[in-house]
Amino acid sequence: MNQDHFNIKQITAQESYSVRHPVLRPGKPISTCVFDGDDLATTIHLGLYQAETLIGICSFFKNAHPDLSVQNQYQLRGMAVLNVFQGQGLGNMILAFGEKLMNQKNTETIWCNAREIALPFYKKCGYETFGQAFDIPSIGPHYAMYKTL
Ligand SMILES: CC(C)(COP(=O)(O)OP(=O)(O)OC[C@H]1O[C@@H](n2cnc3c(N)ncnc32)[C@H](O)[C@@H]1OP(=O)(O)O)[C@@H](O)C(=O)NCCC(=O)NCCS
Repeated sequence: MNQDHFNIKQITAQESYSVRHPVLRPGKPISTCVFDGDDLATTIHLGLYQAETLIGICSFFKNAHPDLSVQNQYQLRGMAVLNVFQGQGLGNMILAFGEKLMNQKNTETIWCNAREIALPFYKKCGYETFGQAFDIPSIGPHYAMYKTL
């Protein structure tokens, strides 16, 4: 994958919906794409573009997980790549960019609630599971995962 063909930049929550909706909330109302805290000043949304087209997204929320004791932690949410672009290293590319940015902001740990189907992706990116699997209604089984930066 030639990284020169892609551009990663900060975007608004609303801009992320063109990927959040088809990939993470397909067939559901667009209102389901709105996450708590999307518009907080501490929240960071990233977008990966090919030319003018947004094809990958991830967001970082200043949320502490009750089972993690570290001070500076952020929650990764809305991790998604448009279906036709998946499996080409783009998810890894935007997540690595985000981790570097969060590290520069003194974040020590990133955690997420990972869909079971996405576990292999997060493991490849250096995340580990913790705690018990749990169900998110209408989405399915999830695992909490974390990575120390
Ligand atoms: C999960 C997702 C963001 C990953 O993005 P991607 O661009 O497809 O992933 P990448 O191509 O960057 O994969 C990075 C690494 O993870 C591995 N990987 C990704 N998906 C995998 C899978 N389902 N099984 C095994 N390995 C996988 C890749 O092989 C790659 O490893 P490599 O570098 O050794 O080749 C993307 O597939 C997606 O949007 N899925 C649907 C939405 C979703 O489930 N989001 C997560 C919500 S918690």
